[in-house]
Formats: sequence, structure tokens, C-alpha cells
Amino acid sequence: MEEKKTSSQSGGALPFILGLLAALAVGWWMFPKALFSESHQPIRFSHKVHAEQGMACDDCHKMRDDGSYAGLPNNEKCGECHSDVVGSDPAEKKFVEEYIQKSKEVPWIIYQNQPDNVYFTHSAHQAQECTECHPKMTDNDSPPVARINKITGYTERTLKMWQCERCHAENGVSNACYVCHK
Ligand code: HEC
Ligand code: HEC
Ligand code: HEC
Ligand code: HEC
Ligand code: HEC
Repeated sequence: MEEKKTSSQSGGALPFILGLLAALAVGWWMFPKALFSESHQPIRFSHKVHAEQGMACDDCHKMRDDGSYAGLPNNEKCGECHSDVVGSDPAEKKFVEEYIQKSKEVPWIIYQNQPDNVYFTHSAHQAQECTECHPKMTDNDSPPVARINKITGYTERTLKMWQCERCHAENGVSNACYVCHK
């Protein structure tokens, strides 16, 4: 009687434990993969091709006179050379016909989109290499794939708080909350 009861109890516990392990396995291995969707830039823009045209980084990414960052170039900038199709690359044809000639800005994906409650400025970070925080773009023939978190909407490469704080600590910069959260 006593023995039978015990075995029926463990018969109940075993499926539970197996189920728990399976759920944890899904959490550890499957979830991080399922969490991100892969997105491609709308236009296959090549940093390499444009560097070969003799363009410098700050022809397209520059600080404004007021210290704010202009970020990505717009159609006005790109249209200096692409008001009509100039080459035979299909990516350029698409760019000119679907964006420039329709006066539509390209909805580029930003790899480092910070939450609105975080204050970040490039003007304080001009002594750091772009690649401390960004993917290396210089030799790219096509932009990296952006992995976007389906729940938060942020890209995988968005800097985490500890990444900002670690570099600040290494450089003797204050990590008081108000420095980054206004
Ligand atoms: C002809 C204009 C142009 C030039 C010149 C240029 N870029 Fe870009 N850059 C872009 C465009 C367009 C994008 C968005 C598409 C992409 O990610 O490739 C971009 C994206 C980037 C990003 C990604 C920002 C983010 O996190 O989303 C970085 C970093 C960057 N460029 C660095 C550089 C550096 C470094 C140089 C100089 C070696 C440079 N760029 C030269 C046009 C340019
Ligand atoms: C100074 C002139 C100049 C500017 C400014 C410029 N381009 Fe180009 N672009 C070129 C030239 C030249 C080529 C090469 C054409 C060829 O031979 O196929 C090219 C090629 C391209 C191509 C096809 C090749 C590739 O993979 O990149 C795309 C797409 C393109 N440009 C998009 C852009 C965008 C978007 C901007 C603005 C961020 C821009 N260009 C700014 C001159 C320019
Ligand atoms: C200390 C880290 C850091 C460094 C160094 C840095 N960036 Fe950024 N960059 C960021 C962050 C964070 C964002 C996102 C800003 C936001 O979402 O408000 C960003 C955004 C951008 C964008 C997207 C447009 C925009 O304004 O949001 C471009 C383009 C860019 N950076 C280019 C560069 C280039 C080129 C360099 C080097 C000259 C550089 N960055 C150096 C952290 C950095
Ligand atoms: C690779 C190193 C590095 C990373 C990563 C970094 N920072 Fe910084 N940050 C610095 C340095 C160095 C300074 C001081 C610059 C100076 O005083 O001229 C600074 C200054 C600042 C300032 C101005 C502080 C002041 O009192 O003037 C703010 C705001 C800031 N960082 C926010 C951020 C945020 C937000 C992130 C992450 C998204 C970040 N930083 C990531 C190195 C970094
Ligand atoms: C050097 C910049 C920096 C400093 C200093 C900083 N934070 Fe943050 N914080 C960030 C960034 C970037 C994020 C967004 C990315 C993330 O969630 O990791 C963030 C996110 C957060 C969030 C949201 C977390 C989440 O998971 O959504 C909270 C809460 C927060 N910070 C509180 C604080 C407090 C409290 C302090 C002071 C003890 C502080 N932070 C100091 C940069 C900073």
C-alpha cells in the first residue's frame, strides 16, 4: 500500500520534471533565436564603393555646428550624384527610381537605436573610434544584417547600460544616473 503510493507519486513527478527541462531547453536555446528577426536595409548601400569615390566619412555623417549629430545623409546629399541612374548596379537603379525620383527618404535601419529615456550625444564621444560602438562599415560592400528584438523593437547591437557604464568607468567619467537619464 505504502509502496504503491510512492511509485504513483514519482510517476506524477517524472513527466513534470521532463516537461520543466524541455521548457528550460526551449528557453535557453530556442528563445534567443526566436526573439530576433533579421532585417535587411531597404537599399544595398556599399560603403566601400563610396570610399573608392574618394568620399570621407564626414561627407555623409557629420556634426552640425550646434553640436548635434546629423546622423545619416538624406536624398539631398545622395542626389548630388544620383539624380539619375549613373551606373549599372541594380541597387542604384532601385534607389534612384523608388526613392530619389519619388522624393521619398530611405527608411534606413539604425543599428544602435537607444531608448528615448537615455541621453546620448556624439559630441561627447568624438575621441572614441566609431567601431567602439558601431559595426565596422568601412570595407562593407553590403550593410550588415540588423537583428531586431521582436519584443522591444531594439536592434541586437543597441548598447546596454553596462556597456556605456563600463567604458565610462574606465575613462573616469561619472556614472551618476542623471548623466544618461534626463
Ligand atoms: C555616401 C555617404 C556615406 C559615406 C561617405 C559614409 N557613410 Fe556611413 N552610412 C551611410 C548610409 C546610407 C548608412 C545607412 C545604411 C548602412 O547601414 O549601410 C550608413 C551607416 C553607417 C553606420 C551605421 C550607423 C548605425 O548604427 O546605424 C556607421 C557606423 C557608418 N555609416 C560609418 C561610416 C564611416 C566610418 C564612414 C567613413 C569610412 C562612412 N560611414 C562613410 C552613408 C555613408
Ligand atoms: C560623390 C558622388 C556620390 C554620392 C554623394 C553618393 N553616391 Fe552612390 N554612387 C556613386 C558612384 C560613382 C557609384 C558607382 C556607380 C557605378 O559605377 O555603378 C555609386 C553607387 C551607388 C550604388 C550602387 C552600388 C552600391 O552597392 O553602393 C548605390 C545603391 C548608391 N550609390 C547609393 C547612394 C546613396 C544611398 C547615397 C547617399 C547616402 C549615395 N549613393 C551618395 C556616387 C555617389
Ligand atoms: C560611444 C559610442 C559611439 C561612438 C564612439 C560613435 N557612435 Fe554613432 N551612435 C551611437 C549611439 C548610441 C547611437 C544611437 C543614438 C540614438 O539612438 O539616440 C548612434 C547613432 C549613429 C548613427 C545613426 C543616426 C543617428 O543620429 O542616430 C550614425 C550614422 C552614427 N552613429 C555614426 C557614427 C560614426 C560615423 C561614428 C564615428 C565617427 C560614431 N557614430 C561614433 C554610439 C556611438
Ligand atoms: C567606448 C567608450 C564609451 C562608451 C561605450 C560610451 N561612452 Fe559616454 N563618454 C565616454 C567618454 C570618454 C566621455 C567623456 C568625454 C569628455 O569628457 O570629453 C563620455 C561622456 C558621455 C556623456 C557626457 C557626460 C558629461 O558629463 O559631459 C554622456 C551623456 C554619455 N557619455 C553617454 C553615454 C551613453 C548613453 C552611452 C551608451 C549608449 C555611452 N556614453 C557610451 C566614453 C564612452
Ligand atoms: C552611462 C550611461 C548610463 C548611466 C550612468 C545609467 N544608465 Fe540606465 N540605461 C542606460 C542605457 C543605455 C539604457 C538602455 C539599455 C538597457 O536597457 O540596458 C538604460 C536603461 C535603464 C533602465 C531600464 C532598464 C530596462 O531593462 O528597461 C533603468 C531602470 C535604468 N537604466 C536605471 C538607471 C539608474 C537607476 C542609474 C543610476 C544608478 C542609471 N540607470 C545609470 C544608460 C545609463
